[in-house]
Amino acid sequence: MSEIVVIAVDGPAASGKGTLARRIAAELGYAYLDTGLLYRAIGLELLRDGEDPADAETAAAHAVAFDAATTDFDDPVLRDEETTRAAGIVAANSQVREALVEVQRRFAAAPPGGAPGAVLDGRDIGTVICPEADHKIFVDADIQVRADRRVKELQDRGVESIPSRVLQDMKERDERDRTRSVAPLAPAADASVIDTTNLNADAAFAEAMSIIR
Ligand code: C5P
Repeated sequence: MSEIVVIAVDGPAASGKGTLARRIAAELGYAYLDTGLLYRAIGLELLRDGEDPADAETAAAHAVAFDAATTDFDDPVLRDEETTRAAGIVAANSQVREALVEVQRRFAAAPPGGAPGAVLDGRDIGTVICPEADHKIFVDADIQVRADRRVKELQDRGVESIPSRVLQDMKERDERDRTRSVAPLAPAADASVIDTTNLNADAAFAEAMSIIR
């Protein structure tokens, strides 16, 4: 029986983990799951229904009813700042997280398309979702550098932003992600840390591949 290889890539917002995880998956022919999109999709559903993302019971009900198969993960609104804020709020809700555990574990155990491996990126993949992952990478970078990257990313998408507001939002989200009682953002004890403050995407990829190989 062939063993599915699981690679966990965790880290804070705009650390470069998404770009890195996608590239690792492409290089190895593995399936890729951006788990942040699950929280974003639930946050967006709540906003579109006119609900308050901070309403714990309503958010939990949406998470339980959530169907990845009918969600458009390419919807650019999922990346908007308002959706981003809502995602950070629902992600601190333990019932929401609980409802999403199985979706993620199923992806890792049986990657779509019969891929021989799966790369999942998020905040708690190496600690909670896949503690037995074959490889764990934690990607981090200085917060000012991450905020600058986010401003540039928004600019590239034609979205105007106020840099000081982006930095402030990122600080708040980091704080919430790192201090929440359930699945806080932290490197797993056995994770390799890649600091991308002074690394470009190619250098980060080379470092990750040398860890994996
Ligand atoms: O990674 P991304 O910025 O798209 O994630 C959106 C939000 O979802 C983050 O602020 C974080 O709070 C949450 N998240 C999480 N656990 C994950 C992935 C994302 O709590 N595995």
